[in-house]
Amino acid sequence: MFTELKRLNVAAVKRRIETLFEEDANRAAGFSLSCGDMLFDYSKTGIDAEVRAALTDLCDLSDVAGRRAAMFGAGVINETEGRAVLHTALRDPDGDDLLLDGTELRAGIRETLDRMRRFSDDIRTGGQIDDVVNIGIGGSDLGPAMAALALAPFHDGPRCHFVSNVDGAHIHDTLKGLDPQRTLFIVASKTFTTIETMTNARTARDWVVAGGGDAGRQFAALSTASDHVAEFGIAADQMFGFEDWVGGRYSMWGPIGLSLMIAIGGEDFDQFLAGGKAMDDHFQTAPWAQNLPAMLALTGIWHHQVCGHPTRAVLPYDQRLSRLPAYLQQLEMESNGKSVAMDGSDLECVSGPVVWGEAGTNGQHAFYQLIHQGTGVVPCEFLVAARGHEPALKHHHQLLVANCLAQSEALMRGRPLEVARERMAAQGLEGGELERQARHRVFPGNRPSTTLIYPQLTPFVFGQIIALYEHRVFVEGVILGINSYDQWGVELGKELATSLGPVVAGDESAEGKDGSTAALVAYIHANGG
Ligand code: F6P
Repeated sequence: MFTELKRLNVAAVKRRIETLFEEDANRAAGFSLSCGDMLFDYSKTGIDAEVRAALTDLCDLSDVAGRRAAMFGAGVINETEGRAVLHTALRDPDGDDLLLDGTELRAGIRETLDRMRRFSDDIRTGGQIDDVVNIGIGGSDLGPAMAALALAPFHDGPRCHFVSNVDGAHIHDTLKGLDPQRTLFIVASKTFTTIETMTNARTARDWVVAGGGDAGRQFAALSTASDHVAEFGIAADQMFGFEDWVGGRYSMWGPIGLSLMIAIGGEDFDQFLAGGKAMDDHFQTAPWAQNLPAMLALTGIWHHQVCGHPTRAVLPYDQRLSRLPAYLQQLEMESNGKSVAMDGSDLECVSGPVVWGEAGTNGQHAFYQLIHQGTGVVPCEFLVAARGHEPALKHHHQLLVANCLAQSEALMRGRPLEVARERMAAQGLEGGELERQARHRVFPGNRPSTTLIYPQLTPFVFGQIIALYEHRVFVEGVILGINSYDQWGVELGKELATSLGPVVAGDESAEGKDGSTAALVAYIHANGG
């Protein structure tokens, strides 16, 4: 599938990205695209017109359009679980009728959204709740936790906290200082069986009861499993349900977003949905070369599957997007980190890349050394807003933006040995010492990066960004032949953790465990664990 692209890469590695700018005065415009006010610039990569054409051909060869129509039209594209994939319907509650197995879905989506809105308004205006604690993990945590931080300037509801880790330290430290009578717990779990979430939920309930609170009133549930919710003791009118056609890591557009809605209010939440819907519309209509999710996906495929760069760094120059890399780790690696194709055969290419990153400028003072001078190439994806939310601190934002642009420029240009020599000579060095010192100051450059830039991080823009990455993962998955919507790879660890629980607690012996695991358990017991 990548034969032609690999052939083109043989030529691409021999030329520098800068040369592409020298050869084409309009490269910046020709290798960037817009979606609404948002601009995606991929001109600082090795992609030229021929490579782009071969990349967009992949979309046709893999029938991305057909799969896309199937997804939006309620086809069962999650074939290993026999499910439709309809998170997009959550951000389009007023769309045309949508039928799944003969049932119309939009009315139910609207009804749940209205119930969320009423509940959220009550909490925001009722004066009885100061703090909201979302208890969930993975998709039931990463999305809303990231979003609440991203949209902090719009936060005018009660304080929001997020507890995910089964490590007792997380809930312990979160509850410190909270009032057990004035805290709402939102137990967010698609399955309502996830051990971390249920353990934390029970601890929270004990805390409320011990503190004289009202567990009935102070607990809400977000789940697909009404039976488990009832068993836990949360009343039906405090439960917000969704269906199995919403994957966990794609779920913050519906009930899993309740904590976000309480934080920013229903109107801003609607704006978030509208941003996601705008990206859906763009994704369904723009030709591939002008299609932002498709081009983001194809840039990723070029760098990973064709050029062979094993990781991708996501570098938001926005402190409030500092949880975006963690969110994208789940979105991308849980979706496309698979070695078996949809039809059960071995994948013919490498799976999705390792995704990592950190907010700028912090990352610059940590790992950018390796990005600039390490032996491997790390394609970098920058995100930045033209303006911040703090007009009085405009100079901070200008510095932030300057740093972002400087990094992509430095990655591309680098610094050749001659320039490094001149600089060392200007400091008075000569001979062997000049040569030695100069070599340490060489930047190879020619390192690819993309920049996603938008006017300001509003709920609408944030919705666009998240839907963009969701569709990028979709396009990548279709081209690679992966089912992006299951996650069997997390099961084995969960099963073994369940069987190890009683062993660690000392209720069962470690017999039958491998020598290493048995020795680690023995160490824990010997040390009071
Ligand atoms: O560990 C994997 C996973 O199943 C994720 O896909 C999911 O987002 C997370 O666990 C939490 O699951 P739940 O919402 O059912 O508690």
